[in-house]
Order: sequence, then structure tokens, then C-alpha cells
Amino acid sequence: MENFEFYVPTKIVFGKKTEEKIGEILKKDGIKKVLLVYGREAIKKIGVYDRVVNSLKGAGIEFVEHSGVKPNPVLSHTREGIKKAKEHQVSAVLAVGGGSVIDEGKVIAIGAKTEKDIWKFFKREEVIEDALPIYTILTLAATGSEMNGFAVITNEETKEKLNISSVYIFPRVSILNPELTYTVSPQYQAYAAVDAIAHIIEFYFTCKVCPNLQNRIAESLIKNIIETTEIILKEPNNYQARAEFMWAATLALNGLTRTGVGGGLFPNHMIAHALGGIYDLPHGACLSIVIPAWMDWYKDKNRVQFERFAKEIFGVSTVDKGIEMFKNWFSKIGAPVSLKEVNIEESEIPTIVENAYNIAKIWKIENIYTKEILEDILKRAV
Ligand code: NZQ
Ligand code: ZN
Repeated sequence: MENFEFYVPTKIVFGKKTEEKIGEILKKDGIKKVLLVYGREAIKKIGVYDRVVNSLKGAGIEFVEHSGVKPNPVLSHTREGIKKAKEHQVSAVLAVGGGSVIDEGKVIAIGAKTEKDIWKFFKREEVIEDALPIYTILTLAATGSEMNGFAVITNEETKEKLNISSVYIFPRVSILNPELTYTVSPQYQAYAAVDAIAHIIEFYFTCKVCPNLQNRIAESLIKNIIETTEIILKEPNNYQARAEFMWAATLALNGLTRTGVGGGLFPNHMIAHALGGIYDLPHGACLSIVIPAWMDWYKDKNRVQFERFAKEIFGVSTVDKGIEMFKNWFSKIGAPVSLKEVNIEESEIPTIVENAYNIAKIWKIENIYTKEILEDILKRAV
């Protein structure tokens, strides 16, 4: 194993009706006024909005609302949230929703504590030094944002979809009630499964050391995500499956699977963010298009891991068969596996390459992911 540091300062409160505890949790932490960040309609439709508001009122917590966060949250709406947080002098952010809502909430929490232009943190031109405390109630299990220090925002003017990473934006408490995810559509469940698996395989395939323990944790999580997704697609209200899926998705990107593996790049996400930034496609759909193409391009660079993956996950003995079965599983659950399926023409590849290369430069991996290589990968996804 490589040396590592593992730091996850987020308390998880997991289980049925746990969202009703939010008022008391905030009160106990001495929080008096929050910015309540949420999306467009889901949380009102499923009744969680009312329960959260009642809990806040019951505990005497004041709140200011910032609603309308869209999937692939955008910079302009985030800036509005920052303005609101400052004007109303809130002492914390409470994000209720999926990864988009949590990510925007995290960035507002940073923006509320600085006069610097928020986008400069994404361009790595400024360093994050503080943020308001962040609390979350998760309604869509996928991204792991509820237990990590990442956030992703799209600058809709430049079409850049960029991420930040900071210890200041780990949520202080995240409430995970699997029942809140019963209403997640089959389509988004499929994207969620792709995303959670993607978080695991990025490190699994790009590891330098690849310890057995981490391999086994990764494989268990992947198998569990596949199995529970198949149950959820047939029985959306199956608590056990929703619960296991939710916790697996959280563990997939809270740093656990990458401990000690050395290396660990995020190339599929880099290309998926380019697609998301340009075309505003759901994150999981971008990944399901990129992953089989990237695997085909990368397979000989870490063949042992690919053989393991084929055998452990799909019970087959060849690398190519493993990739094929993975791709077929994406199709089976309803996730796209080619650019054509989302109406992107081969002639658009150079634009995607430019966007992805911009991210590669920010991540300082442009000498590995050159424009030629990015084009090669994307051509395998036509
Ligand atoms: O628009 P509303 O009405 O709010 O509905 C949402 C949204 O349309 C809906 N939804 C949420 N909970 C629901 C529900 N519908 C029914 N029942 C519920 N209980 O689902 C739609 C998608 O929500 P969104 O938050 O966009 O999905 P997800 O959780 O997949 O988040 C995606 C975003 O997170 C970023 C992605 O790039 C993307 O911007 N990521 C964040 C990461 C992180 N912070 O660690 C890592 C990931 O790799 C990813 O990049
Ligand atoms: Zn992801």
C-alpha cells in the first residue's frame, strides 16, 4: 500500500424519517439561520420540503430559501445564492436534494465567506480558505457529494464544467433517508448507478499499487450497486435495495476506495464533464458514453485489473468480454453508450476535445491526455 491520509469529517444520520431531525441537529450546533437550497420541484412533490420546514420551525431555526437549482448547476444561479447568503447573513447552508443541489450549496457556502470571484477557485487561481458549515438532506443517491469535499459547477457562458476540492466543504452532517429516493425515476436511477460505479472504477483501473483490500472493497461495492439497481428498477419502493444502494453510492466517493492505491486519476469524469458542459446532458449519461470507449483505449495499460474486473464482476475470463458485458449492462438499464444515442455527431468531436483538454490542463494531466488521445477515445464512442 502507498502512504495515505484519510479524513472524512462528515457525520451521517441514516434511516427512515431522519430528515425530521434536521431542526434539532442545527439547534444543537448553535445554528440560528440557514440558507435552504433546493431544486425545482422534486422536494415539494415528495413532501420532504414540508417536513424539513416543520422541523426547522419546530426548533426555531430561521431560513431563507434559494430554490431552482438545475441539474448541472450553473454559475449564475450560484452567484445569486451567494448574494442571498450574504444579504441575509445566514450562519449555515442546508442543501436538500441530489448532487446538483448539494454542490451548489457547497459553493454558496464558500462564496458567502469571501469577496473573491467564486469562479477563480474553479480555475485554480485562488485557494479556498473558509466556508459556512454545510448540512445536507439527500434525495438522490449518486454523486457521493454528501460525504466528500468536492463540488462541480458549470459556467454557462464559457461552457466549462469544473470542479473544486476542499476540506472546508465536507458537509458537517448529512441525512440519508432511503425512502426519499423511492421517487427517483428509472432513468435517473440508471444514471446514478453509472456514476457511483464510475467513481469506483476511476481509481480501480488507474491505481499504481492496487492493494487486494481496496480491490475487494471496490468489487463488493460495484456488485452491490449492480444488484440493487436491478431490484430498484423492478421495485422502486424496496427499502433494503434503496438503502444499500444509497450507502454504496456514498462510500463510492468518500475517499475510502482510493486509500493506499497510489495514482488515481479521474479521466472518464474529465471527458464526461466536457460533454456535460457543452450539451447539458445528465452526468451519468455522459459517463456511460465515455467509460466503454475509455476502457477499450486503456485496457492494456493495467491489464491485470481489467482481467480481475471481468472475472469478479461478470464472471468472464477475457478483458474484452468484461468490457462488452459492462457496456451491455449500461444499455440494459437504459443508459446511453454512444454519442449517436444523444444526437452528437462525429464532426463535433473536435469541440469536445478542446473542452476536455482545457480540464486536462487545469488538472495538470494534459501530457497524458493529449488532444490526439482524447480524440482517439471519443472516436471509440461514436
Ligand atoms: O430538478 P428537481 O426537481 O430538483 O429534481 C431533480 C433533478 O431533476 C431530481 N430528483 C432529485 N431527487 C429526487 C428527484 N426526482 C424524484 N425524486 C427524488 N427524490 O433528479 C434530477 C437530477 O438531480 P441531480 O441533483 O442533478 O442529480 P445527481 O445527484 O446525479 O447530481 C449530478 C451533479 O453532481 C455532479 C455532476 O457533475 C452533476 O452536476 N457531481 C458531483 C460530485 C461531487 N460533488 O462529488 C461528483 C460527481 O462525479 C459529479 O460530477
Ligand atoms: Zn461522477
